[in-house]
Amino acid sequence: SYRPEPEDKFSFGLWTVGWRGVNTFGDAVRPPLDPAEAVHRLAGLGAYGITFHDDDLIPPGSSAAERDAILGRFRKALDETGLTVPMATVNLFSHPVFRDGGFTSNSRATRRYAIRKAVRAIDLAAELGARTFVCWGGQDGAETEAGKDDRAALERLREAFNLMCGYVREQGYDLRFAVEPKPNEPRGDVLLPTVGHALAFIGELEHPEMVGVNPEVGHEQMAGLNFAHGVAQALWHGKLFHIDLNGQRGVKYDQDLRFGAGDVKEAFFLVDLLERSGYDGPRHFDFKPPRTEDVDGVWESAAACMRNYLILKEKAAAFRADPEVADALAASRVAELSEPTLGTGESLADLLAEDFDVDAAGERGYHFERLDQLAMDHLFGVR
Ligand code: GCO
Ligand code: MN
Ligand code: MN
Ligand code: MN
Repeated sequence: SYRPEPEDKFSFGLWTVGWRGVNTFGDAVRPPLDPAEAVHRLAGLGAYGITFHDDDLIPPGSSAAERDAILGRFRKALDETGLTVPMATVNLFSHPVFRDGGFTSNSRATRRYAIRKAVRAIDLAAELGARTFVCWGGQDGAETEAGKDDRAALERLREAFNLMCGYVREQGYDLRFAVEPKPNEPRGDVLLPTVGHALAFIGELEHPEMVGVNPEVGHEQMAGLNFAHGVAQALWHGKLFHIDLNGQRGVKYDQDLRFGAGDVKEAFFLVDLLERSGYDGPRHFDFKPPRTEDVDGVWESAAACMRNYLILKEKAAAFRADPEVADALAASRVAELSEPTLGTGESLADLLAEDFDVDAAGERGYHFERLDQLAMDHLFGVR
């Protein structure tokens, strides 16, 4: 059946199903999507949440009356369907003023405008009940080395986060920030390119407890990195505040394929990890329905993101419940890694005094191949 329910916590960006297919070489292929219609369509498919950039919902240049009308219609759709707004974000990349970035533009006036725009988007997020505010760098980065003082850029980025965190505390909003890393695109090199860079940056903030990460499947994979490992580290730091699920095939431009339609094996182990981790936040899809698709294809691909997640969830659970897998896990000594290396009451001196037959220990294999093949058998559906 794989029928998504609101309890599955699936959410979609308004900019994903609403993407009109404009790319570097091609014009729009689809009509604009009305936000209220997006709410109804997503609720009908079984999603629980919708997210947006300030400008996705309220087109720049809207008058106060237009803003109220749009928000009124959107809220009405949310009320009618029970869909929620778990996360919101700010667009600091589309307008030409952001051609050198937002929070880290060389232009001080632009940075001040970016912070004003972000604070207004934070107000909008809080107004609609969002608990997470995502910050993706967008145009923060460089193509040249001489044109950008990276250490100054990091200092300005820290300043922006400290100001935004201070504002949220002052207002008493129940809102946390999630930094979204990306290695490149639209800039040749983007600031905070990977999960690891973002985690290190967060540690330097005034209120690190308010800021976590929003890793995206394709973004780590664009850098040739293992996404499940990146998410595991974010979880270990207590920093997985949100997640962007999609698909990517290798080191190339940001494909934003529907979830599952990329590295299937890594998607399997990601779902396995998420489902066993206690992460209870949204399963947020940040994908772009390919330009080949008409409006029907958009909703097909959105439904498929959720379907693929549920299929992988079932397969991962079956893998974990398989007695032969339990046996293979034991042979691979996977649980032994959770044992502290020093025993209770032991000291380093005890460890130093120990005798160890390295040659005998070195002969023993770990049998990971058998274990991994069992996972593949489950994934292929032959077990
Ligand atoms: C991308 C990014 C964006 C951001 C989103 C939030 O595909 O490069 O994932 O989609 O997630 O814009 O700001
Ligand atoms: Mn993209
Ligand atoms: Mn992306
Ligand atoms: Mn994203």
